[in-house]
Amino acid sequence: MAPEAAEQAEQIANEARALLFRASSADQVEEMRVRYLGRKGVLSRIFASIPRLPPEQRPAAGQAANRLKRQLTAMVQEAGRRVKQREGARLFTFDPTLPGRRPPMGHVHPLAQTIEEVSDIFRSLGFTVAEGPEVELDWYNFEALNIPPEHPSRDDFDTFYVTDRMLLRSQTSTVQIRTMESQPPPVRVIAPGRCFRPDTEDARHGSMFHQVEGLMVDEGVSFGDLKAVLHIFARELFADDVQVRFRPSFFPFTEPSAEVDCTCPACRGSGCRTCSYSGWLELGGAGMVDPNVFKAVGYDAERYTGFAFGMGIERIAMLKYGIEDFRLFYQGDVRFLRQF
Ligand code: DAH
Repeated sequence: MAPEAAEQAEQIANEARALLFRASSADQVEEMRVRYLGRKGVLSRIFASIPRLPPEQRPAAGQAANRLKRQLTAMVQEAGRRVKQREGARLFTFDPTLPGRRPPMGHVHPLAQTIEEVSDIFRSLGFTVAEGPEVELDWYNFEALNIPPEHPSRDDFDTFYVTDRMLLRSQTSTVQIRTMESQPPPVRVIAPGRCFRPDTEDARHGSMFHQVEGLMVDEGVSFGDLKAVLHIFARELFADDVQVRFRPSFFPFTEPSAEVDCTCPACRGSGCRTCSYSGWLELGGAGMVDPNVFKAVGYDAERYTGFAFGMGIERIAMLKYGIEDFRLFYQGDVRFLRQF
């Protein structure tokens, strides 16, 4: 290197800076790196020339060469980063011809689907869909339903109370009363909706669940009508060959009362794990409206008769879809929900 080592080094650095500034691809940067820093590059030649200089010039030349090396290395690195960034940016350029990205779309919850399906079946039988409040008066949940003050279902253990007279409804039977209070017979309604009971959560229970209530009142309505309506309902819901049976039971608001079973949809009545090998599964409760209920709402119990029933929506959905755990409906896990 000539005596003006520092000056020469600066010239080389300037030239390299200009060339690297113009480099627009990784290949071009690599070319520059080889030209300046490569084994046979500019810098190698400079280092090789130092021993041939007069001894007094060598330290300065060495210093200048080392400084140049640092500068060139930094410049090449910087240029490399710059072109890489630019190439990355190019990949993300807006392309208006690409199809749009579809946002994930939700769909109707399996319980809401079940309510819809149940409602459709009853609509086809001439029932309309009614609703009632979830926070209720004692009158609608108990009193008018002929449930006496000392009845165990009125206990704190079985009902969520808001005040002495107000509670979270523990059954949709409340809507029977609200409907009859608001209109004269004939009545043909179902009332799907949320109910609440202080139950401990397990695979079959939760403190919130859904029921669908049914009520039909007119002159001459018989237990035969009740059997026909629930049989048609079960057939539409599950399968043509489903059987329905009525076991004697007791509810304060119906007389006589029955528990309604249908043949297990999983094994069609031959017995399996779902039905505990009995062939039958409970659908809900039903019966002929108790005259005391008619009295509470001001209907003429001599002239009118009626039937009522109540079924659990979760239970119906579990039977229909083969779901084994009640809690899945309420956990919001899309891996579960997506299947319906
Ligand atoms: N409300 C009852 C329950 O929650 C179910 C029920 C039984 C409703 C008989 C009715 C009925 O309308 O007639 O267990």
